[in-house]
Amino acid sequence: MKAATHTPDMLRFLTAGSVDDGKSTLIGRLLYDVGALYDDHVASLRSADADEDADLDFSLLTDGLRAEREQGITIDVAYRYFSTSRRRFIIADAPGHEQYTRNMATAASQADLAVLLIDARLGVSTQSKRHAFICALLGIPRFVVAINKMDLVGYAEERFREIEAEYQEFSVRLGLGNLCFIPVCAVSGENLVRGGENMPWYAGPPLLSFLEEVYIAGDRNLVDFRLPIQRVVHLPGTFRGYGGRVASGVLRSGDEVMVLPSGFRTRVAALSTGMEAVHHAVAGQSVTVALEDDVDVGRGDLLVHPGNVPQERRELEAMLVWTGDESLVPGDVYLIKHAARWIKARCEAIHYRVDPNTLRREDADALALNDIGRVRFSLFKPVFADEYRKNRILGSFIIVSTTTNDTLGAATIIDRTDYDAELKTERALPLRSNVVWHEGQVTPAARAALFRQQPVTLWLTGLSGSGKSTLAFALERRLIEAGHACFVLDGDNVRHGLNHDLGFSPRDRAENIRRVAEVARLMNDAGLIVITSFISPFAEDREMARQIIGPDRYREVYLSTSLSVCEGRDPKGFYQKARAGDLPGFTGISAPYEAPSSPAVTLDTGAHSVEQCLAMLLRQLADFIKDRS
Ligand code: ADX
Repeated sequence: MKAATHTPDMLRFLTAGSVDDGKSTLIGRLLYDVGALYDDHVASLRSADADEDADLDFSLLTDGLRAEREQGITIDVAYRYFSTSRRRFIIADAPGHEQYTRNMATAASQADLAVLLIDARLGVSTQSKRHAFICALLGIPRFVVAINKMDLVGYAEERFREIEAEYQEFSVRLGLGNLCFIPVCAVSGENLVRGGENMPWYAGPPLLSFLEEVYIAGDRNLVDFRLPIQRVVHLPGTFRGYGGRVASGVLRSGDEVMVLPSGFRTRVAALSTGMEAVHHAVAGQSVTVALEDDVDVGRGDLLVHPGNVPQERRELEAMLVWTGDESLVPGDVYLIKHAARWIKARCEAIHYRVDPNTLRREDADALALNDIGRVRFSLFKPVFADEYRKNRILGSFIIVSTTTNDTLGAATIIDRTDYDAELKTERALPLRSNVVWHEGQVTPAARAALFRQQPVTLWLTGLSGSGKSTLAFALERRLIEAGHACFVLDGDNVRHGLNHDLGFSPRDRAENIRRVAEVARLMNDAGLIVITSFISPFAEDREMARQIIGPDRYREVYLSTSLSVCEGRDPKGFYQKARAGDLPGFTGISAPYEAPSSPAVTLDTGAHSVEQCLAMLLRQLADFIKDRS
């Protein structure tokens, strides 16, 4: 007996991008260059009157699927297989425009990796952000961003880097890991199988070499054993065999197993893949299991290890991509398919919809075609499910119409407790109607007269180490010495108290800025001049601060000190740590910084002394401060 022929040499990937981005051409060309096309296929790519050497139109290969679609044949995902001496590949190609999201969601749930295509001329479009969002939602662990049509931008490295930077910035907000960027020209095949003779500046591997070498074995969950039973088969010499694909974990011959939902326990008598007896089977493999006892096991049941059982749930909290033409509405009943089971379920709530462009949440009464949102379903019968993070198969489900059998959406399960915690810390409660604002008896004019100044907030923004705190505290001292009432709100200091519960995720940073802006506003209301010193890397968050404080009191000061100068200073040693990979999400290294587009003042502390910078800041304050002499 041996271990089942496992599949570490198998890579499943999906391609995302519209036909216009050159997706069909890329797949066609890749298959042609690795010799995975039959001669008659190749012949069909030539127009009738073209001679032997004429260029082949590779897009015809996959566009054939579109033709089938137009004839009313529904192809959600087309799978293509090819292999090289290093690995076997399955490409899940989701054709179509309108229905793209649905197809992609189906393809994504199984993929080890996604190849996201971008047209070099167009850059990062809303559509490509949506694709990335869905891939992230469906937990695809690795990504290749293929920047295509490089020939149409003169093979310019500058354009490639520009798109790379833009994509990086978006992907950090999404939490996409493991990104690799490759400049390609699908029509000529450059950087697909062979190198790109016109892009000598690109030092990385061509797409195929990357796909052949990328390490994926570690991405699988080999801890939590789950086997949804898809079929019951009769095996000679034993009771019955139960077949299915191991969703996660490892099953060994002799293991004690529990059958769910019945809870019966027994042991594995024998395991086989195909006709071959094996000693163990791992995530991703199809196996047939013979059990020691004649227990009742049916299609849709689940085999697990007794010490590691998934949660029984009557409600599912999920992120959902809606692909039905008719909207999802709370109260409606649907069929859901979870692992190998079908159950009826009612949509109980839509918590919010996400704008894939900005990643902001918005309230929603319904989810329309292509919308993505957070929902809750109640189930007519309980299921044993995992969180999607733990198990992509037991952690996901699809929603199907009870009348037409059309697939209406794909969803990934999230733990309810996460949502409760989120609600507490992240969702600002709407102002209650029974809370009213009390006017005080002291007017802003009276305060201004007392302090002999108009309140203002100087909002310093810039990279860590750009000199924000140094300047803020120097300015504060100068102002106090001159008899002005002012106070510094400093990033590190505020994170010791008021904001000690916040980290550095984009959401936490937004909340950090919101609270600070509210405090600055109160201090301004009290008549004080406020100087804030926060990286505040996102333009959207700074805009929020401007709105909270009031545009006439908010003055943005951009510390434009370059990354190399900041990194050279590295007062807290954070850059060194971030470069070593020990500080994830560090601004400037592994998290983005969006420079202000029209700050009131720009100061480069690498080029100017503290004194010079102070002079510029004091000039900004001149209108707000009355001479006290
Ligand atoms: S902000 O992005 O939310 O505005 P803030 O200014 O409050 O950041 O805090 C930045 C300070 O936190 C930095 O000066 C640094 O000392 C520390 N810090 C720790 N981890 C990070 C990180 N991942 N990114 C940026 N700063 C960090």
